[in-house]
Amino acid sequence: MIGRLNHVAIAVRDIAKAAEVYRSTLGAAVSAVVPQPAHGVNTVFITLPNTKIELLEPIGADSPIAKFLERNPDGGIHHVCYEVDDILAARDRLKAAGARVLGDGTPKIGAHDKPVLFLHPKDFCGTLVELEQA
Ligand code: CO
Repeated sequence: MIGRLNHVAIAVRDIAKAAEVYRSTLGAAVSAVVPQPAHGVNTVFITLPNTKIELLEPIGADSPIAKFLERNPDGGIHHVCYEVDDILAARDRLKAAGARVLGDGTPKIGAHDKPVLFLHPKDFCGTLVELEQA
């Protein structure tokens, strides 16, 4: 059911510093900072030949990644995003299998203007999983 790895998201405290590590030390193609106030984060997109890395920096104390950074002060992998051909069919199949879909199960528009859902880390090997409509 899942297809391509769309991105790996890494939560960071200082996105300018993190972007510089990817640009200078790792030699990657790094975007400018893209504020996403609706999601409570600033984002930097790093394009690799086969996938993307997204750096996430919290905006404000209510940011969904603020707690993650409290537990992981050096930053860390926050979630992985897999593409699916039909997000509603994927949701229904996962729910039928007993997996927990976060929120009310209605896909929201994600960072790439496509419908996304998040799956509970306890059901997926301790990893927060994002599904994105391909
Ligand atoms: Co994501």
